[in-house]
Amino acid sequence: MNSVFITGGTSGIGLELAKKYLAQGWKVGVCGRDQSKFDENFTRDYQNLYYYPLDVADREALKKAVHEFSKPTGLSLIIASAGISYPQKTKIPDFERTYKMVHVNLLGVMYAFEAAMEIMIPQGSGHLVAISSLAGYNGFPGISGYSATKSAVMKFCESLSLDLANMQIDVTCVCPGFVDTPLTQVNHHPMPFLVKVDKAAHIIVKGINKKKRVINFPFIFSCLVKILALMPRWMFQKVMSQDSFNYSRKEHK
Ligand SMILES: NC(=O)c1ccc[n+]([C@@H]2O[C@H](COP(=O)([O-])OP(=O)(O)OC[C@H]3O[C@@H](n4cnc5c(N)ncnc54)[C@H](OP(=O)(O)O)[C@@H]3O)[C@@H](O)[C@H]2O)c1
Repeated sequence: MNSVFITGGTSGIGLELAKKYLAQGWKVGVCGRDQSKFDENFTRDYQNLYYYPLDVADREALKKAVHEFSKPTGLSLIIASAGISYPQKTKIPDFERTYKMVHVNLLGVMYAFEAAMEIMIPQGSGHLVAISSLAGYNGFPGISGYSATKSAVMKFCESLSLDLANMQIDVTCVCPGFVDTPLTQVNHHPMPFLVKVDKAAHIIVKGINKKKRVINFPFIFSCLVKILALMPRWMFQKVMSQDSFNYSRKEHK
């Protein structure tokens, strides 16, 4: 039986992915800290659904849950979707929040992959997926901590996809632009090319099925972000200093 463990599967992108895999008859494990989100969002009684209340920054708890979920079926796929960001953009980083993002957005992905690899390497198959962000392609103003964690996740996946290629383990890094979820519904700044969460999950599942190494979307926004990434850094600095490109300026002069 196909099985997928989704961190942060109780809301937003993770929730939508969980529903898609449940609809396809997969065994699905989800985790999150707040049980009420699970109760509220999974109203149907799914036989193949397992919930683990935990914080992904707790390495041992996550490892225990992934191992427990994988017995006796093994683990086909893990999607590390749990992540946090903050609506306030600041020029001076809020370091407490930055460290929290490192724990959840970066270490949370590493802990998830570590646990999954302990199962997938001996079983000789598996697929590791992390939800990064288009924000990881450049150091964007006002979100230094978020950009840094997402950029690190991209590079972590890139290295692993090379290292695990001969072990029959695929690695996919998903880089969405803005997706309409509780995470972004609190943002005050414009969110160009906003994608509906159902469409986002559809694109992600399709890319995972194709075993793509990187899934960037939406197309036009990802092209713009990649052009910014290719620019000499002095040019990037000039572009991002323009008022129209630098949304953090409007909130924090
Ligand atoms: N929405 C976007 O525009 C967008 C764009 C690019 C990338 N992303 C990335 O996509 C991923 C999912 O975001 P989303 O928009 O779906 O957010 P969301 O709706 O806020 O969902 C986040 C999920 O992660 C869980 N979570 C958060 N912190 C956790 C922790 N410490 N331990 C365990 N679970 C935790 C939440 O449950 P609990 O609160 O109950 O723990 C929830 O299930 C994130 O990594 C985000 O950075 C989102």
